[in-house]
Amino acid sequence: MVTFHKLLFTILGLLIATIFLLSQYRTESTPAQTLIKRSVDGKPTFLGNNVTKTILYWTPMFQSPHFYLGTGSKIFEKCAYKNCYATYVKNELPVEKFHAIMFHAVEYQEKLFGKPQKRNPNQFYIFSNKESPVNTPSFIKDFNNFYNWTMTYRLDSDILRPYGFLIKKKTDYELPTVEEIQKRPKKIAWFVSNCKTSSQRELLVNEIQKEIHVDVYGKCSALHCEKDNTEACYDKMERDYKFYLSFENSICEDYVTEKLYNVLQRNIVPIVYGGADYNTLAPPKSVINVMDFMSVKDLVKHIKYLDSHPEKYLKFLEWKKDYIVETSSTRSLCTLCQKLHEPIKQKIYSDITKWWAGKNKNKCMVNKNGFLDKYLLQS
Ligand SMILES: *[C@@H]1O[C@H](CO)[C@@H](O)[C@H](O)[C@H]1NC(C)=O
Ligand SMILES: *[C@@H]1O[C@H](CO)[C@@H](O)[C@H](O)[C@H]1NC(C)=O
Repeated sequence: MVTFHKLLFTILGLLIATIFLLSQYRTESTPAQTLIKRSVDGKPTFLGNNVTKTILYWTPMFQSPHFYLGTGSKIFEKCAYKNCYATYVKNELPVEKFHAIMFHAVEYQEKLFGKPQKRNPNQFYIFSNKESPVNTPSFIKDFNNFYNWTMTYRLDSDILRPYGFLIKKKTDYELPTVEEIQKRPKKIAWFVSNCKTSSQRELLVNEIQKEIHVDVYGKCSALHCEKDNTEACYDKMERDYKFYLSFENSICEDYVTEKLYNVLQRNIVPIVYGGADYNTLAPPKSVINVMDFMSVKDLVKHIKYLDSHPEKYLKFLEWKKDYIVETSSTRSLCTLCQKLHEPIKQKIYSDITKWWAGKNKNKCMVNKNGFLDKYLLQS
């Protein structure tokens, strides 16, 4: 009788403890410490037997302490591998216990942010960058033999973090009518805040303006949209214009930014100038690529033709019936979490500058070799 009671109490006790643990787990801000402890104890967790992989943001990314990715476990909930946890609170765990540590390469200098005091050979230090090689400071060379993984827009990164991507999917998109297109009073818009760039897009725009009018909004001109680059601005652009200049600030491999993806989400045709392969990174027949033309004159001739043939113009919006353009970072978070669950494969970037810039800086085109001059001279 006595032992039966004991057994009953033990079972009841265990039950209460389990419910308590589960309820703890369900609260959103489970600190990394409890997640780790539980998996070290080998107790089954809510998400299965896997160890929760922890990620620490060592630096911010510009204004965002969490790299615009978010914190906690919930950000991984749509992933196949969800058992990850991210934080920027450095003392949540001893620093060598985090499975991955993220650094924003264009901001990370030891004198500003320090270095993790201890390093575990099974940890992954991640080089994270959204800028092109041309706009990456040279101090990244201080971090040779430091990074294990890269997380950038470049297609050869360990974890791809693009500005946008395509999903092939039938939609119920309805094309605007010819009348709606004809009603737009203006032709080309450009929002820009960086007036002098390595791509020298400003020279290209000057050249285009000799042939056709371009409304330039932002810091480099007198025209201003209510709050530059807000939804309201994009609304205005889509209502009043037919074309938008998605001109990148540098001409680098795979470098295509929100300047393209935000515009693709609207009912307007982007004219693109950049170093990426738009045939694969943009939907089919969605953009007008400057580099497909022999001269600015030819380019403008084509733009004018589409301007006066709205039914031909509309062909550039047809793709919206078959594709969705996504700009969220969820996929990148999922890749990160999944890779952290794979068996550890040692990797070291012994010369990060060389990888990022390419041998002889060949990942970017700069006008030193005159590619743009030649192009402009033809016009
Ligand atoms: C870890 O989780 C993944 C899916 O999240 C699963 O495929 C794998 O089998 C799990 N491993 C163990 C040891 O439970
Ligand atoms: C990461 O790089 C460091 C420094 O080169 C190295 O000691 C460590 O073993 C690497 N870790 C992984 C998981 O590749």
